[in-house]
Amino acid sequence: MIPVDAPRVNTKYRRIVTKIPVPESLELFKALEKYESRSMHGQLPVIWDRAEDFQVFDPYGNAWIDFTSTIFVTNSGHANPKIISALQKNLEQKLLHTYTFAHKSRVDFLKKLIEITPEQFEKAVLLSAGTEVTECALKLMRMHGQTVKPSKIVIISFRDAMHGRTMGAEMLKGDPKTSGWIGYIDPNIYHLPVPFPWAARGKVKNDYDWGQHFYEDMQTLREDGLDFNNIAGFIIESYIGWGAFFYPVAYIQALDAFAKEHDALVAFDEIQAGFGRTGKMFVYQHYGAEPDLICLGKAISGSLPLSAVIGRQKIMDLPDVGSMSSTHSANPLCCTAGLANLEAIEAGNLVEESARKGAILHNRLNEIKNRYAHRVSHIWGKGLLAGVIFKNSKTNRPDSVFPSKVCEKAMQKGLLLVHTGRESIKIGPPLTIPDDALIEGLDVLEESIAEIDS
Ligand SMILES: Cc1ncc(COP(=O)(O)O)c(C=O)c1O
Repeated sequence: MIPVDAPRVNTKYRRIVTKIPVPESLELFKALEKYESRSMHGQLPVIWDRAEDFQVFDPYGNAWIDFTSTIFVTNSGHANPKIISALQKNLEQKLLHTYTFAHKSRVDFLKKLIEITPEQFEKAVLLSAGTEVTECALKLMRMHGQTVKPSKIVIISFRDAMHGRTMGAEMLKGDPKTSGWIGYIDPNIYHLPVPFPWAARGKVKNDYDWGQHFYEDMQTLREDGLDFNNIAGFIIESYIGWGAFFYPVAYIQALDAFAKEHDALVAFDEIQAGFGRTGKMFVYQHYGAEPDLICLGKAISGSLPLSAVIGRQKIMDLPDVGSMSSTHSANPLCCTAGLANLEAIEAGNLVEESARKGAILHNRLNEIKNRYAHRVSHIWGKGLLAGVIFKNSKTNRPDSVFPSKVCEKAMQKGLLLVHTGRESIKIGPPLTIPDDALIEGLDVLEESIAEIDS
């Protein structure tokens, strides 16, 4: 929060003409500190005034290239013109809220969502936040399990996977740091360790059997008292969010086969991953898995609060009439934005574009990794998603300080990165970003790494 006299920048896509953070903006941050719980704070100190396509502007004349898409929301570009014009029509129509009374844009959105998703997804529940839909998936999996027998309510999730901030979602994560406040542990939620390369304890070679690794981890849960026949379902964060780490394909295929053998459902949490971010519409498609449910949020509307669980009718109709809705579910403005957004993703070929531009992104990041091998330990991700993982150059241990400094330096130069507070920086520009802006942003990232490293 101390303004720095950053060098002035004036390029095709970036402009820095003040100290950063801007001295006049500090009073706004102070007001937030005064009136708002600190649980909402910790972001880089930029006041957003306007965001268009792949750029963010403050009210003081500065402009940034955005590598965040807010947080993987604006895949179709900030303030996508199709979304803006659909919302303008909706505003003129004067229909801001209907609760669960029907309205046309809800019908149109649902129809489009089901049309663009693979055949097994027949129905949806619409909600507002991501955390609501992971809780909804948990409810659906347990309800489904109970149709088999009352004790079939066990959920298997991954330790440290992000599913949201409400109680069930935090229980799925199972991290005592974030769920200790709950005060007890649900005995019917079991956690698998994420199969990071180091989980194989140095045994990883190209022919390492990740399928067997999955079965061995399941045996460990059995030794902890798990009866496999009581498993109602598995929930998988499609990639591990903080580092953009993808699971080994053989591991997920073994999980999928195991679930089917035991009449358990598989839910992918695609809230951060979906809608083209990784070069496919959904991440489960990279794994060749066949999920029963997928959880969607963030980029589903490219803007307003909208989320969904989708699945087969048989599962989606388990909750009774009126028992899985919320006050703001399927708000008309959100559905209007959602429909325009899905049309924009299709019209702009954004899924294919993500794969194409992803090659530019990952080639360059791997060059950076080679040049800064003493600092960068891994590049993870696919398509226009990347996690750059940092290590301490002396100890080789994960380093969370260096990436924070890089994010701050990049901000001073006109580039916004996803600051995770961990040993990673995440990159996820709008899928509409032009190639030259992507390259300019990557140049700034490398300059920032070089300056903090020197
Ligand atoms: C994978 C994943 N699941 C769930 C959530 C929670 O979504 P929301 O913040 O909309 O509640 C997030 C949010 O970052 C997420 O990344």
